[in-house]
Amino acid sequence: IQPDYQKISQWAANYVAAKINKANPTAEKPFVLGLPTGSSPLGMYKALIDLHKKGIVSFKNVVTFNMDEYVGLPQTHPESYYSFMWNNFFNHIDIVKANVNILNGNAADLEAECERYEAKIKEYGGIDLFLGGIGPDGHIAFNEPGSSLTSRTRVKTLTTDTIIANSRFFDNDVNKVPKTALTVGVGTVLSAKEVLIIVNGHNKARALYHAVEGSITQMWTISALQLHEKGIVVCDDAAADEL
Ligand code: GLP
Repeated sequence: IQPDYQKISQWAANYVAAKINKANPTAEKPFVLGLPTGSSPLGMYKALIDLHKKGIVSFKNVVTFNMDEYVGLPQTHPESYYSFMWNNFFNHIDIVKANVNILNGNAADLEAECERYEAKIKEYGGIDLFLGGIGPDGHIAFNEPGSSLTSRTRVKTLTTDTIIANSRFFDNDVNKVPKTALTVGVGTVLSAKEVLIIVNGHNKARALYHAVEGSITQMWTISALQLHEKGIVVCDDAAADEL
């Protein structure tokens, strides 16, 4: 628990950089990072870009897998998670384009796309560190309340709550928000060697309570983090309000 957003962002960035550096990855044995979008990780991405510019961390031998992507938004749409990742992170670091993996929400066969994604994660021997945020309803990635805690990558219908929450990125117009998404499953996240969740702001306090002190339930999918051997939460004081 850190006093403010700036501190949690720096904490998370330092943690990620230290992990990559400790692994000392090579092209043959890259470090595999799972990545989220959303406002929560933005500060961490900025801090990581800074560490990269200072020569403290390189992403040359890092392979990334993003958590989720909207279905049907063109890749070039400013709110696609593809655009988000390139604009806010990848364009500013030394990552190799071929090492970036983002679900294709425009694939002709969405189910095949999800299977391909899971298979590719496996090919790399799994994800070393999965970073994430949470929705106010306690969802991780787009694993909405009611998602199976053993779920893998699949198509998911967004709840009305999530559509309303995310409409702030679509001119506050719920009609512009895609209604479905591709998302890694709770099981996919739990299969990572380590999971680090960034939580800030009072509107996440109830979700964090369920994540940490509630019982494990598919109605607050982040609560599954309690099942992980190495699940880390970095949060600010406001988010910790109900703990
Ligand atoms: C979306 C994303 C999640 C993210 C959540 C919270 O639903 N699919 O991965 O954690 O939003 O976003 P924010 O960090 O902007 O509150």
